[in-house]
Amino acid sequence: SLAEKSFKYVIVGGGIVAGYAAREFAKQGVKPGELAIISKEAVAPYERPALSKAYLFPEGTARLPGFHVCVEVEERGSFLNGISLILSTEIVKADISSKTLISAAAETFKFQILIIATGSTVIRLSDFGVQGADAKNIFYLREIDDADKLVEAIKAKKNGKAVVVGVGYIGLELSAALRVNNVDSTMVYPEPWCSKLKIFTASIAAFYEGYYANKGIKIIKGTVAVGFGTNEKINVKLKDGRVLEADIVVVGVGGKPLLTLFKGQVEEEKGGIKTDAFFKTSVPNVYAVGDVATFPLKLYGEMRRVEHVDHARKSAEQAVKAIFASEQGKSVDEYDYLPFYSRAFDLSWQFYGDNVGDTVLFGDSSPTSTTHKFGSYWIKDGKVVGAFLESGTPEENKAIAKVARVQHLAQNLDKLATEVLTFARNI
Ligand code: FDA
Ligand code: NAD
Repeated sequence: SLAEKSFKYVIVGGGIVAGYAAREFAKQGVKPGELAIISKEAVAPYERPALSKAYLFPEGTARLPGFHVCVEVEERGSFLNGISLILSTEIVKADISSKTLISAAAETFKFQILIIATGSTVIRLSDFGVQGADAKNIFYLREIDDADKLVEAIKAKKNGKAVVVGVGYIGLELSAALRVNNVDSTMVYPEPWCSKLKIFTASIAAFYEGYYANKGIKIIKGTVAVGFGTNEKINVKLKDGRVLEADIVVVGVGGKPLLTLFKGQVEEEKGGIKTDAFFKTSVPNVYAVGDVATFPLKLYGEMRRVEHVDHARKSAEQAVKAIFASEQGKSVDEYDYLPFYSRAFDLSWQFYGDNVGDTVLFGDSSPTSTTHKFGSYWIKDGKVVGAFLESGTPEENKAIAKVARVQHLAQNLDKLATEVLTFARNI
């Protein structure tokens, strides 16, 4: 049998969490040989959001090593000092009680402290029993290998046609990326508007739909793909009976956290691994961070799971700080946070807080406006609990973040909007 390797700290998963945790471990003075990152991907941690954006651009294309998390070290050809990066290694069995992980190649890894950072995987149409959904030229996007396949297809099918199934984050970002590559694209989704991004109210969605339509993207709402036929082209069969012909199909129908390795070994809640405000699980010395964690979201006094990059980064830093603090008999503040964002075409939005209660739209949300600077507040119990802003400057984004964080009283909303849009900081 292969030699057993032993580390003080092991991170399972080599994505956003692993990259930001490694950086924080280095900052905290981890010693050479103490930390290992085990990843099934073949490359060091990188900024995953680039895959649906600049990685697909025809110009100004992002490529590794340009968007590794620890890019400065990657460019010099090595990872952070003394941290073992164990790549192309999938963990297939985890036994927390004996502190052992086993890889697909039957290697054994021992740990004293474990960070679970396996992230999410895609939900596939075949999971819903859609016929032919695993055919060639039907693409999903999660890891860099998926992105490479998509780039190849875009090159091979220049000026071709694409159908994008599902219009969540992936759908909206990829329809835009396909369009800028001169691929004619049609988005298909079940909802009456692109509302699955739960923060998209009907009026916010109307802006994006209008904007996308003006860019030449076709939109088919209220139906789903029920089957695929392939000859030269792919025939996308819709539930309403229509058949769309495509060279490329991109599917973005959601993600699910990867928890199976740890089933029955750690407590779960709301579909994720339950943690405290320091990302400690129900088992001592085992942490769960990023997409997999269901943690107390301080601002709302509620347990939540969040699939966004900024949370992955910050929760990684929080967990590592907490690990070092507890070793020194110190403590760190409870986790407290929450913005997220998306970018497509020349659009870029940020959202802070919670999307509950009534909504109020402000600014110019006409799809043909030249500034497309507009936003929305969510009002609950007389307070602003959430705020969305399209095309904000960094100062404006900071201002709306503050409105949501302090839960500004929902009086005089017109004035508040104007203040945000004129860089008011004295809120
Ligand atoms: P992440 O998925 O980054 O990493 C998990 C790692 O674990 C992967 O390397 C995986 O291979 C590995 N792994 C899993 N199981 C394993 C096993 N058994 N053994 C070994 N390794 C294993 N968010 C946002 O706020 N704004 C944005 O613009 C975007 N854009 C975006 C684009 C695309 C294409 C995707 C797929 C996602 C986004 N996101 C986003 C979401 C964001 O990227 C996501 O929330 C974080 O990557 C989560 O970080 P984690 O480290 O938890 O998982
Ligand atoms: P999503 O949950 O955002 O959207 C899923 C979409 O698929 C929705 O429109 C939904 O209604 C639709 N859908 C569901 N079932 C369907 C079916 N049978 N047929 C057709 N449509 C169907 O998920 P996603 O866009 O796939 O994103 C995956 C993950 O990546 C998520 O964790 C997301 O947070 C993350 N991500 C985030 C960003 C960002 O924050 N900017 C960008 C890209 C990806």
